Amino acid sequence: MKSVNEIVSIGPVIPVLTFESVEQGMHVAHALYEGGIKVLEITLRTAAGLRAIEQTLQLASDIVVGAGTLTTSTQVEKAKRAGAKFGVSPGLTSEIHEASQDVGLPLLPGVMTPSDILFAISLGYEIVKFFPAQQAGGLDMLQAFRGPFPALRFCPTGGITRELATSFLALPNVVCVGGSWLTPKTAIAEQNWTEMTCLARAASQIARPNTNTL
Ligand code: 3PG
Repeated sequence: MKSVNEIVSIGPVIPVLTFESVEQGMHVAHALYEGGIKVLEITLRTAAGLRAIEQTLQLASDIVVGAGTLTTSTQVEKAKRAGAKFGVSPGLTSEIHEASQDVGLPLLPGVMTPSDILFAISLGYEIVKFFPAQQAGGLDMLQAFRGPFPALRFCPTGGITRELATSFLALPNVVCVGGSWLTPKTAIAEQNWTEMTCLARAASQIARPNTNTL
């Protein structure tokens, strides 16, 4: 089992994916993988989520599929049973933390405020999702977090574009970013898998200049 630290080190961008069907999930995951994306977050916001996790894991031996939008212990348990390699939650509760520990699912918990961060640190987390990143202060907020929380590393997610991703990844406390810009709604509607592969290729090549300095 890979740790969150190992998973976030695999690539600079984790696409956040919500699928209407397993078939759609397979096409999209394959397109992104062709573009160099090895780590995916599939949300449980739709009925197809869990089965899409199960199936996309079969695409390649080195694909790492996580379950996103985990808000309850039941979802954590179902995600683990579906084979998810990690979980992502928009916020952090004792329930989600304990369920993740109990089933052995590495968790990337969401935070937005200093109090959220203190809670996450008190539970032992060293890497957290900053959500919703752009809406909650973006680059300036992450810079401000460096003072009181110098050792904490972030995966900002929410409102991030290709252009913003480069700026976020240049921050010393950012290890990777999450987002849905690799799968535009129009491309999904038109089944334009090639466009997604191109977006994935560009995303997977974004530099992370500071990753090794932490
Ligand atoms: C989400 O929860 O939907 C993710 O944070 C992705 O956000 P985005 O669609 O703004 O990239």
